Amino acid sequence: MATHKRSAADPISGSSIYAHIVGWGMAVPDRIMTNEEMSAIVETSDEWIQARTGIKERRIAGERDSTATLGLKAAQRALEVADILPTEVELVIVATSTSENIFPSTASLIQDWLGASNAGAFDMSAACSGFVYAVHMAAQSIRSGSIKTALVVASETMSRVMDWQDRGTCILFGDGAGAVVLQASDVEGGVLSTVLRSDGSGYDLLGIPSVGSLDTCAPVVNPNGHKMYKMHMNGSEVFKFASRVIGESITQALDNVGLRLDEVKLIVPHQANDRIIQSAARALKVEKEIFISNIERYGNTSAASIPIALCEAIEQGRVQPNDYIVFVGFGGGLTWASMVVKWGAPEAEERQAAVLGKQRRQASYTLARWRARLIRFQRRLSNAVTRIRPNEGRVHRLRHKIDQHDLR
Ligand code: UT7
Repeated sequence: MATHKRSAADPISGSSIYAHIVGWGMAVPDRIMTNEEMSAIVETSDEWIQARTGIKERRIAGERDSTATLGLKAAQRALEVADILPTEVELVIVATSTSENIFPSTASLIQDWLGASNAGAFDMSAACSGFVYAVHMAAQSIRSGSIKTALVVASETMSRVMDWQDRGTCILFGDGAGAVVLQASDVEGGVLSTVLRSDGSGYDLLGIPSVGSLDTCAPVVNPNGHKMYKMHMNGSEVFKFASRVIGESITQALDNVGLRLDEVKLIVPHQANDRIIQSAARALKVEKEIFISNIERYGNTSAASIPIALCEAIEQGRVQPNDYIVFVGFGGGLTWASMVVKWGAPEAEERQAAVLGKQRRQASYTLARWRARLIRFQRRLSNAVTRIRPNEGRVHRLRHKIDQHDLR
């Protein structure tokens, strides 16, 4: 069993509350798309894709998959590992660039489907750095004492924003979701240090124009020729940017807590290109094996790639209690982010989490579905009644006035 040091206060934040990752889960669509299939769509080849990116295949969302449904599955698995009820979650953040809607947020949908009725919910837009940004926001909410439990989901259906005529982007991306549960503890560890950065001067190097964009609505002002809702990328510029910032930001995040790189057990990088990981390893003068890479099976799943790789690292036994691990993300914005985590979720009794059966969680999900249906039905019913008896509201208000002022 892990030994956990209790500490009065963290030297950086001054808080004696720590935010630990106590649950994790991932979900990917069943449909596998190989490089051979890709070469039937655009002019490319399995050899080129593997040699230039390391990707062999990726997952593609089916008709019944969406950003929210994939995110929900990952979230349910994370709650399972954390062994908590959805009602214990106080904050749901979804990191995504492929949200179900501009609003309502994908986070609100997942919050409702889980039955997380005590939670606030919002989406986080920081492209492929989104997961690290979201975990930081959740951890800070916990460390401030304002909440005890947060759920961070990163979910993407990148296949739906691909320009399937652009071989420079469509070969790279795939769909999937990952999630973590964070919980407050007085046991030292969890999220120790974060470096978040942005350089918006690179806004045109990588993006997906949406409804408010000058890019597509005013082509005279912005003659980029970018397509609405389709991803565009200047691959070589993003490659150079990524290779530079990974090493820099990891070093900064470690310096913040006085750790050396040789004390780090595992680096979980955003899975964008195997050559980027190799170049970062060279820059940091470490073996490539310190980085986990699963890009060959999933491609680049944007914000979801770090939690998916984390889940696989845990599954493979590459993360043990008290290990220092590092997350590093980079992407559109431009944004980048590094985070140092001391692994080792406190035991359930230390977390004061109730030991709950799978059945209670399942019952909670079923209840959430019926609750949402019932509320929507009530809304429809009350609207229908108002339509049938349009004066009812007025009559009711008048009666209320009469009662209040005793006009009778
Ligand atoms: O998650 C967000 C962060 N994203 C990234 O980090 C992506 C970073 N960028 C990259 O991974 C790489 O830049 C790419 C994989 C996108 C491209 O690889 P590259 O080695 O930088 O290729 P390139 O763009 O410099 O193109 C080299 C050649 C070009 O042909 P010419 O002009 O030399 O004749 C391209 O037209 O490769 C050609 N090419 C392709 N050939 C076959 C570009 N894409 C393909 C393709 N298949 N899919």
